[in-house]
Amino acid sequence: MDRYLSLFLFLFMTLFAEMRGRRDECMTSNPCSDQGPLIQFPFRLKDQPRHCGYPGFELSCTENNQTMLELPVSVKLLVKNIKYKSREIIVQDPDNCLARQLRNLNFAASPFYFKFELDFTFFINCSSYETLGHGYSPYLYYPIPCLSVPGNSVHAVWSSSPFNLLDLSSCRRLYNSSVPGNRDSGDFMFNGSAFSLKWSKSICRSCPEGGKICRLKKSNSTEPETECIKGVLKKIIVTGAIFGFFLLVLVIVALYRVYKSNKLEREYRINVKKFLQDYEALKPSRYSYSDIKRITNQFKDKLGQGGYGIVYKGKLSDEVFVAVKILNNSQGNGEEFINEVATIGTIHHVNVVRLVGFCADGFKRALIYEYLPNESLEKFIFSKADKNYSLSWKKLQEIAIGISKGIEYLHQGCDQRILHFDIKPHNILLDHNFNPKISDFGLAKLCSKEQSAVSMTVIRGTMGYIAPEVLSRNFGNVSYKSDVYSFGMLLLEMVGGRKNIDVSVESTSQVYFPEWIYNHLDHGEELLIRIEEEEDAKIAKKLAIVGLSCIQWYPVDRPSMKTVVQMLEGEGDKLTMPPNPFASRVPSKTNLSKAGRAFQQELAIISELEQN
Ligand SMILES: *[C@@H]1O[C@H](CO)[C@@H](O)[C@H](O)[C@H]1NC(C)=O
Ligand SMILES: *[C@@H]1O[C@H](CO)[C@@H](O)[C@H](O)[C@H]1NC(C)=O
Ligand SMILES: *[C@@H]1O[C@H](CO)[C@@H](O)[C@H](O)[C@H]1NC(C)=O
Ligand SMILES: *[C@@H]1O[C@H](CO)[C@@H](O)[C@H](O)[C@H]1NC(C)=O
Ligand SMILES: *[C@@H]1O[C@H](CO)[C@@H](O)[C@H](O)[C@H]1NC(C)=O
Repeated sequence: MDRYLSLFLFLFMTLFAEMRGRRDECMTSNPCSDQGPLIQFPFRLKDQPRHCGYPGFELSCTENNQTMLELPVSVKLLVKNIKYKSREIIVQDPDNCLARQLRNLNFAASPFYFKFELDFTFFINCSSYETLGHGYSPYLYYPIPCLSVPGNSVHAVWSSSPFNLLDLSSCRRLYNSSVPGNRDSGDFMFNGSAFSLKWSKSICRSCPEGGKICRLKKSNSTEPETECIKGVLKKIIVTGAIFGFFLLVLVIVALYRVYKSNKLEREYRINVKKFLQDYEALKPSRYSYSDIKRITNQFKDKLGQGGYGIVYKGKLSDEVFVAVKILNNSQGNGEEFINEVATIGTIHHVNVVRLVGFCADGFKRALIYEYLPNESLEKFIFSKADKNYSLSWKKLQEIAIGISKGIEYLHQGCDQRILHFDIKPHNILLDHNFNPKISDFGLAKLCSKEQSAVSMTVIRGTMGYIAPEVLSRNFGNVSYKSDVYSFGMLLLEMVGGRKNIDVSVESTSQVYFPEWIYNHLDHGEELLIRIEEEEDAKIAKKLAIVGLSCIQWYPVDRPSMKTVVQMLEGEGDKLTMPPNPFASRVPSKTNLSKAGRAFQQELAIISELEQN
C-alpha cells in the first residue's frame, strides 16, 4: 500500500512542480509595479525566457517602476495599459516629446502599427517663423515646441498641405514620418499624450480565445513559431482529470489490495479450517445413520458381504470415496465394533487402512474406511486363471514388505500394541498403486508392549492362518507372535498362489503346500512356480524362507515382525533355511498325509476347545 501511496505522491509533486514551474517561468503579473499592466503573451519581460513572449514584444521596467516598451530603433515608450483582447497597447512618450522619437521609429521591423495614423509627411527646422509665409495654419504645418529652440522653430508638415503656399527657403528638412493621432480628441500626438498601438492578428492566429494560451515554441527556428497551451481553466480541469485518474487508480489499487488481503485472509481461514477438519479427521468422525444413507446413496453400490455385514461404496465428498461396512446388529455385544474404532481409529500408517468415521445410531452400526479400488490381495493371489489379476514377483515382494511393515507398526509403533489376529489375504486391501493396507480389525486386541501374553476366551482368527498357540495353550502363550504365524501363512500363499488349506476340498490327500515347499527347499531344489526370470526365483525363494520362518510351531522360534521386515528387505541369498516347522508336531495317530494331519490337527483342537 505504501508503495502506491508514495508513487501517487510522487506524481502529485511532479505535476505540482511542473505547474508551478510554468507559472514562475512566464508569470502573468507585472513585476515592475502592482499597478502596472498585466504582462503575458505576446509580451514578456526581457529577463523572462524567450518562449514566454513573441519577438518584438519585449518589455522592461524603468528605474521608477514603470513598464516600458522599446520599439526599433531605440524608441522608448511608457506602457499605460495593454488590452490583450483588442490587441492594443496604450503608450506615452516618457519625455512628452514624441516628435523627437518619431525620427527613429521604424515599424517595418516591429509588429506594431498606430491605431490612428495621421499622414504628416516631414518635419522642418526653420530659422524664421515668418518664412513659412501666410501665417500659421495647423492644416498646413504644425509647430513642435519641444523641438524648437530660440531663433529656430520645428514644424511638422502635413502631406496634404499645398506646398506651393509655403516658403521653405529658410527651412531645412529634418525627417519624414507618419504620426499617431487621437480620434476622439482629434489631437496630433507629438508630445506626451497617450496613444494606441496595435499589433497584428496573425500572431498566434491559430490559438482561439478562451481557455487556451498562446506561447512561443521552444525551437531554434529563426521564424518564431507559436503553439497553444491549455488555459488556466483547462489546466485546472486537466489537472483535476489527471488527479482524478490517479485517485481512481489509487482507489482501485487500494480496493484490490483490500480484496486481495481479504482473499488471503479467506484462504488462510479456509486452510486453517481445512487443517482443523483434517486434524479432526485424524480421529474418526461420528456419523448418524441418515448420514450413512446419504454417503452410500441409499446403499446403492455393494462392494462385498461377509459374516460381519455388508460393505458398500460411499462418497464423503466429490473426491473422497469410502467403503462403508454395515455391521450385523444382531451379532454380539458390539465388541467387534468397539475394537475397530478403538484400535485403528487413532492410528495412521500407510499400510493400515484408515478408519474415516463410524456410526453408532442405536443398534445400527457402521464403519467408514478409506476406499481402496483394487480390493483385496485374495483376489490377486488366488486367481491364477485370470491374467488381469496376476502380480509380478517384484510386486508380490513389495506387497509382502508393505504388509510386514504394517504389522510391525501395529506391534511396535503405537502407544499400545495392537494384535490383529486375523491376518489373511482377504484382509489385505490394495490401493491403486497396489500398496497393501491391513484392514478388518474386528478381532484385534490391545495390550501393552511389555505384556508377553494375552488372555483369550474365544478363538480368534480364520482357519488356515491361526497360530497353534491360539488353538491350544500347549504350544505357548498367545502373543504378537501369533500374527507373525498368520503372516507366514499369508506369505506362503503368496508364493504358492493358492490356499495352503482349502477348506472346501474334503480330500485330505492333497499336498499341504507349506510342507511341500519346505521339503522342496530343504532338498536344494529350485522353486519353479510361475517363474519367468532368474530374479523371480530368488524372490520366490526368499519369500518362502521368510514364510517358513514365521510359521515355526512354537512362538519363540518365530522372528519378530521387525526381523521379518529386515529379512524381506535384505538379500535373499543370506537367509538360512529355518528348521522344519512340521517336525515338532504332535505325532500323528492316523495314516493321513502330513498336510491332512496339520489340518486335522487344527480342527481337532478347535472341536476340543468348543466342547469346553
Ligand atoms: C519601485 O519598487 C520597489 C519595490 O517594489 C520600491 O522599493 C521602490 O521604492 C520603487 N521605486 C519607485 C521610484 O517607486
Ligand atoms: C534647427 O536648426 C538650428 C540651427 O541650425 C539648430 O540649432 C537646431 O538644433 C535645429 N533643430 C533640430 C530639431 O534639428
Ligand atoms: C519625404 O517626403 C517628401 C515629400 O513627400 C519626399 O519628396 C521625400 O522623398 C521624402 N523623403 C524620404 C527619405 O522618404
Ligand atoms: C500636447 O499638445 C497639445 C496640443 O498643443 C496640448 O493640448 C497638450 O496639452 C500637450 N500635452 C502634453 C502632455 O504636453
Ligand atoms: C538549437 O540550437 C542548439 C545550439 O545551437 C543546438 O544544440 C540544438 O540542437 C538546436 N535544436 C534544434 C531543435 O534545432
